[in-house]
Amino acid sequence: MPASSMEELVSLCKRRGFIFQSSDIYGGLQGLYDYGPLGVELKNNLKAAWWRAMVYERDDVEGLDAAILTNPLTLKYSGHEETFTDPLVDCRSCKARHRADHLDEQKCPACGSTDLTEPRPFNLMFKTAMGPVDDGSSFAYLRPETAQAIFTNFKHVLDSTSRRLPFGIAQVGKAFRNEITPRNFIFRVREFEQMELEFFVQPGSDEAWHEQWVENRLQWWDAQGVNRNRIELYRVPADELAHYSKATVDLMYHFPHGVEELEGIANRTDFDLGSHTKAQGDYEISARVTPNKDSNAKLAVQDPDGGGWVVPYVIEPSAGVDRGFLAVLNEAYRVETLDNGSERTVLGFRPHLAPIKVAVVPLKRNHEGIVDKAKGIKQHLQALGLGRILYENTGNIGKAYRRHDEIGTPLCVTVDFQTIEEDDSVTVRDRDTMTQERIAVAALADYVQGYFR
Ligand code: GLY
Repeated sequence: MPASSMEELVSLCKRRGFIFQSSDIYGGLQGLYDYGPLGVELKNNLKAAWWRAMVYERDDVEGLDAAILTNPLTLKYSGHEETFTDPLVDCRSCKARHRADHLDEQKCPACGSTDLTEPRPFNLMFKTAMGPVDDGSSFAYLRPETAQAIFTNFKHVLDSTSRRLPFGIAQVGKAFRNEITPRNFIFRVREFEQMELEFFVQPGSDEAWHEQWVENRLQWWDAQGVNRNRIELYRVPADELAHYSKATVDLMYHFPHGVEELEGIANRTDFDLGSHTKAQGDYEISARVTPNKDSNAKLAVQDPDGGGWVVPYVIEPSAGVDRGFLAVLNEAYRVETLDNGSERTVLGFRPHLAPIKVAVVPLKRNHEGIVDKAKGIKQHLQALGLGRILYENTGNIGKAYRRHDEIGTPLCVTVDFQTIEEDDSVTVRDRDTMTQERIAVAALADYVQGYFR
């Protein structure tokens, strides 16, 4: 069973070094979190798994890593300046501000007053001054989605790789939203990471591709340990769609605080490429876009059947890294009662996501022969390139196993007297079964590689 409350996960994350409140020693900064020694490993592993599946294991996707600071014109024509808003209400009594659509009753959650202002749109984008003169004339936005730089680089990627439709451009990176009320730990934050694919297709084939991507993404989450039975599909109704979307399917996961969006898969049509394309040309733009007076770009491809220029449609699977982290953590979390009545907390991560792949533990912390042997094995396993291998010299083997169960380390290798005095073998303990096998050191690398394959 996953965690029964968010508090259990928050507490584990802090205690074991997955996630800390940002600027904690100064009282924190709302809606911002820092990933600690284990958190950074889990997060990197999740992003790497996404990149492997979306780029390396396909033959129709290229990667991109674009700048975070964004030209305001990009976000003017994308529609974000005008429409990327949430409804804001003020409490006239205590001056607190709330998101109108998050209020259960028309009542201030801070003081209970019903004296609230009418909702008004609040733009979620962060702005920052560019250059040494801060007179408001030269500014940039911190990107609210990674997607826009994929659209503005469309032609560069196309020309440098000679791609034809259908093909995609993938990007993983930070995005920023000035959320009115950040909440639910790392679920709704002001600085976060996205894993976004913009998959460009021939208009007319978009709906079939949309369905295909929904299925593909469910399978991927399942492979990360997020059971598809705990994801509900939400076909977003027309009056809730983002300004660029013709249809969106949200993957709604059972988070500890409720069922909410883990990933959105949108059919953005030709809205974005069309928006950034010169207003008049030998192509048609089907979406209603603001005619572009600032771009000379033609973000279009030539129809291979000789039918002229086409502005492609795009299907966008857009996943939140932090939300994915929370879902993976929640799915992995379990508390077991052992035969002797004691309890153990386990993070049963899929091996490829585990922050520490193998802990190498000397049975005696001050025994030179055992310690040297364990250090040598750690170096040897580290060189296999599987991820982080930890030399764990705490001196208490039982505690070391418990700690590694709780942080999700799949294998613990223990060096003991038999290793150095008898047969050069070690014990390998499995996190899930808690069973131990004796393996010759000469065969250990193959064993470990086989486990993580
Ligand atoms: N690119 C979609 C989103 O950021 O929500």
